Amino acid sequence: MAYKVFVYGSRKAFPAEGLAVGTRLPFDIFVNEGNVFSKEYSEGHAFGPADRIELLRRGVNEVYVDARDALALDAYLHRTSEEVPANLEDPVTVREYIEHKQQYYQIDRTFLVQGKRVEFGIYRLSDLRLVPLVEPVDNGFGTIPGGLGSCRGDIVIRNEDIPLYQKYLDVVIAEMASAAPTQEEKQKIQAVAIKEKSKTIVKDLLEDPRSGENIKKGMRVVSDLTECILGNPNVLYDLIALNSYDQYTYTHSVNVAVLSTGIGVSCGMGKDVIQDLGVGALLHDVGKSAIPPEILNKPGRLNEREYEVMKSHVLEGIKTIESNDAVPKESRSVILQHHERISGTGYPNRLSGPQISTFGRICAIADCYDAMTTNRPYKDAGTPFQALMQMKVEKANYDVEILDNFIRMLGRTQTARVKAAG
Ligand SMILES: [Fe+2]
Repeated sequence: MAYKVFVYGSRKAFPAEGLAVGTRLPFDIFVNEGNVFSKEYSEGHAFGPADRIELLRRGVNEVYVDARDALALDAYLHRTSEEVPANLEDPVTVREYIEHKQQYYQIDRTFLVQGKRVEFGIYRLSDLRLVPLVEPVDNGFGTIPGGLGSCRGDIVIRNEDIPLYQKYLDVVIAEMASAAPTQEEKQKIQAVAIKEKSKTIVKDLLEDPRSGENIKKGMRVVSDLTECILGNPNVLYDLIALNSYDQYTYTHSVNVAVLSTGIGVSCGMGKDVIQDLGVGALLHDVGKSAIPPEILNKPGRLNEREYEVMKSHVLEGIKTIESNDAVPKESRSVILQHHERISGTGYPNRLSGPQISTFGRICAIADCYDAMTTNRPYKDAGTPFQALMQMKVEKANYDVEILDNFIRMLGRTQTARVKAAG
């Protein structure tokens, strides 16, 4: 859809309906109420359904960006499916992409502060291509450029640079937390930091899932995340607001653990039960470590044979952890049942209705929601609203009570965000 842009002095106006739910805003947005311009959303804000409702409620039909953001506005309003790469069939590009997915590690752009010096290279993985953004110069340092908050694709670093990134992260998190204006803001930074740090632990865990030490670290991740969410349920929004351009099993696993934990909290489960649920959710795709990378990271849709191989990750996962006593018995049902469907159409055992445990039902919802809201090279992500609508249409597959609870939970976290911003 085309939106007309008007110029008002140093600002450009466009219809508020041009703000698409589920997108991350690449600029600050201003509103004009009673002839007073005020900033409504900051650059990087994930525009959600509650934001749309709030603008409608206040009768805000027109919004503004700074004139300096004209190019970014043009790109934002003309997002099209042309951005989906046309090189999915090129064997060399596909092979390189699969290698890049194995050799590079996705990082959270929240912590990339413009102008900071870094001792590691930073790259953008987008449309199957790897583009250098920061390459350390002769003295070993590079400087983070601006605009990384909204650029297309995922920001990645080399696997071997993860320890340098962790060091950088510790410094930036400490600086951000000490500059936070309120305790609430500090809690949010800490929650997102725990999530970002937990990704490397989960990456190690997925690479060596039989290591008792890795499992123990994974359990600590869940306990830290649960503490955060129980301490301040509003942090949940910050933990689930980030979308990846592409899927990475470690990022997906942490997302599913966060969402499942959130559902557990909203269902009123006790801390110990939530811990078992979260551990299961964190490990739900552990069997993917047994799937060949050319299938796991294939940038196109899987054919029938590949899909059958992919489905084997469920039983591979159970095999991987069965001899590990550290994994609670209750957590195992999550691994085994997260692809089962209430309608009996899931796998591996075509269980239905009451045969599926509460943990299995919760993880099925969290898993599908995260998958639907994550981009893939062959398919742009659905917005949170679209994902929930699709799950509502396919409600025969899910536990309807848990799904409604989940929708309410997402609504509450969005509302909390709007209130905090106001
Ligand atoms: Fe799975």
